[in-house]
Amino acid sequence: MGIGPGSLEDLTPRARRCVESADVVVGYATYVDLVRPIIKPGAKVIRGRMGGEVERARAAISAALGGSQVAVISGGDPGVYGMAGVVLEAATVDSADVCIDVIPGVTAATAAAARLGAPLSVDFAVISLSDLLTPWDLIEKRLEAASEGDFVIVLYNPQSKGRREPLAQAHSILLRHRHPETPVGIVRNAGRGGEEVEITNLERMLDSEIDMVTTVIVGNSSTLVLDGRMVTPRGYDLRSSR
Ligand SMILES: C[S@@+](CC[C@H](N)C(=O)[O-])C[C@H]1O[C@@H](n2cnc3c(N)ncnc32)[C@H](O)[C@@H]1O
Repeated sequence: MGIGPGSLEDLTPRARRCVESADVVVGYATYVDLVRPIIKPGAKVIRGRMGGEVERARAAISAALGGSQVAVISGGDPGVYGMAGVVLEAATVDSADVCIDVIPGVTAATAAAARLGAPLSVDFAVISLSDLLTPWDLIEKRLEAASEGDFVIVLYNPQSKGRREPLAQAHSILLRHRHPETPVGIVRNAGRGGEEVEITNLERMLDSEIDMVTTVIVGNSSTLVLDGRMVTPRGYDLRSSR
């Protein structure tokens, strides 16, 4: 299930019920801590480490096979770089006969877009810059294709202290296709303590603080900044229809 970007306000009622009724809650430690206030007293909590997704999926399946109702926590939406796929794959590979419901959540792209204005009103592409499970060549190909196609581009996993090269490379690909003044929205910790929202442009994008709790939204050729909000017009003719 997906807990949304972080605040309990952004948790859907269905996701909330899932956590509240679970006998076992399994998740990456940061996400488990975000929903701790609504975990049922006495529920077993399995807090995992980053990179321990397969381990967590199997721990959840094993608890479910033992008869427990299990909530596997993902940040945002569980189907967007989250736990849903790995749990379904592990259940199939291990021939585990368990009932699995995927409960959606508000993904970082739409949480960040809402903070910025309405940058995703038209076709957009979400690209993760993490090359842990995807080869960098393929990520580059996707960046080129999305840039050429004039998609608004949402970047997940943009950079960490020790991993600055991918964002720098993505930036040079984007600059080959887009005007340097293309609006870029940068949202850190959307819906959590320490939230920061900034609108800059493609040329200056790398001057901003960008880390692994940041979502970057690069506008397309029509994206505007209107009264401090980032907006990609859908194409309505608002002036002549007044
Ligand atoms: C592995 S992906 C997981 C995405 C998650 N399943 C979702 O649907 O939002 C992690 C990336 O999502 C983005 N992200 C997740 N939560 C965020 C938040 N609260 N604020 C800004 N970006 C966030 C960051 O780019 C982060 O590196």
